[in-house]
Amino acid sequence: MSGIGSPTFELIDHHGNRVTHASFSGQWLMVYFGFTHCKVVCPRSLQRLSQVLESLPDSMTKKITPLYISVDPERDTPDVMKQYLETQYPRFTGLTGTVEQVEAAKQAFKVFAQRKPDPDDPDGYDVPHTAITYLVEPAGAYATHWVATKPANDIVLNLNQLLTTNPNH
Ligand code: NI
Repeated sequence: MSGIGSPTFELIDHHGNRVTHASFSGQWLMVYFGFTHCKVVCPRSLQRLSQVLESLPDSMTKKITPLYISVDPERDTPDVMKQYLETQYPRFTGLTGTVEQVEAAKQAFKVFAQRKPDPDDPDGYDVPHTAITYLVEPAGAYATHWVATKPANDIVLNLNQLLTTNPNH
């Protein structure tokens, strides 16, 4: 997992602006991949990460940009991402793009996600995906990651430690 180096991407944010990894230079990036139709995994993760951010002081959260990158760009247009996040997880900025741009971002973070048929979904498909949260430090290099089962308290402690000891903070 530490083999992602300095992950790069070129995507569209939920306001419709083109952004790259360089757009967020100087910020810690909390990066999570998923899709807005996800029934269980994304809501659980986004809720937990929002809870983590909620419990940190403003002096720390202002240094962190939480990003939710879609693995389902056909359905997750910038508008769909905006609606979903602003109503439920307002701390997050949604990123989406063309299929090719999303593929490239997934490869940069070594994220797995692939469409599979799902008769319970209104559009007939699901997109099982990696449920890891990545932390990228302000100079753009991978810092750490948290698996889906990592308790919120542990993430808070980890962030406190990293943000107070990193010389770039
Ligand atoms: Ni999901």
